[in-house]
Amino acid sequence: VKDIIYTLDIQEAFTVRDGQVLTKLAESVAHEGVIFVEVGSWKGYSTSFLGEVAKNCGGVVYAPGVIHHALVDDCFQIFCTNMKELRLNKVVLPMIMTSQQAVRIFEQADLVFIDGDHRYESISKDIPAWWTKVKEGGILCGHDCENYYSSYTEKEREAIDINLDDFCPQTRCHAGVVKTLDEIFGRQYQIHIPSTVWSKSK
Ligand SMILES: C[S@@+](CC[C@H](N)C(=O)[O-])C[C@H]1O[C@@H](n2cnc3c(N)ncnc32)[C@H](O)[C@@H]1O
Repeated sequence: VKDIIYTLDIQEAFTVRDGQVLTKLAESVAHEGVIFVEVGSWKGYSTSFLGEVAKNCGGVVYAPGVIHHALVDDCFQIFCTNMKELRLNKVVLPMIMTSQQAVRIFEQADLVFIDGDHRYESISKDIPAWWTKVKEGGILCGHDCENYYSSYTEKEREAIDINLDDFCPQTRCHAGVVKTLDEIFGRQYQIHIPSTVWSKSK
C-alpha cells in the first residue's frame, strides 16, 4: 500500500490505536448493508478500518473529502490505488466534494466519522449537520478530540478560545473540535482515551 500513513512527526496522525477504536465502533452498528460515511479520508488510512468492517457485511463507505476540491491531485490517485490494493475499491466510494455539499445529499447513515476540516468555523457546522443524518441507534464520531473542554483550567480554556481555527499550542489540542463538542454535547459524549477518537451514540 502506497504511502498510506502520515509521517509520524505531525500532530494529527491517525494511529493504529485510533483505528482499533474506529473498528470497534463500526462493528457495534454493523449489519447487512451497513452504511458508513467518512468525512475527510486523505490517503485512506482511517478509511481502511471502516472499509474492512463494511466489506464483511456487504456494506459501503461513502468518502466525501478525500480531496474536497475538483482538481484531481496525487492524493486522490494514491487513495484509489490504496483502496484497490486493499481490495476495498468496491466498498469505498470516494466523493470529490466538501462535507457541507455532501451532507445535503445524504439521507441516513449507521455511522459517520468526521476527520475533515477541524477549524471551528467548519467543524461547528459539520457536527450538527451530520448528527441529523445518523440513524437512531447509530453513531456520530470523529478524530482529534484530546480532552473535554470543561476539564481544562480557565486559563487553558482562554487559550483554546483564541486558537479556534488552529491547533492550540498551550493545551496541545484541536481547539475547534474540543470547543464545538462542548457546545453541542456538553460532556455527554465519549472520548476513547488514549486515542483521540470521540463518539456520540444516537
Ligand atoms: C486530517 S486529513 C484526514 C486524514 C484521514 N482520515 C486519515 O486517516 O489518513 C483531512 C482530510 O479532510 C479533507 N477536507 C478538508 N476540508 C474539507 C471539507 N470542507 N470537506 C470535506 N473534506 C475536507 C482533506 O481533503 C483531507 O483529505
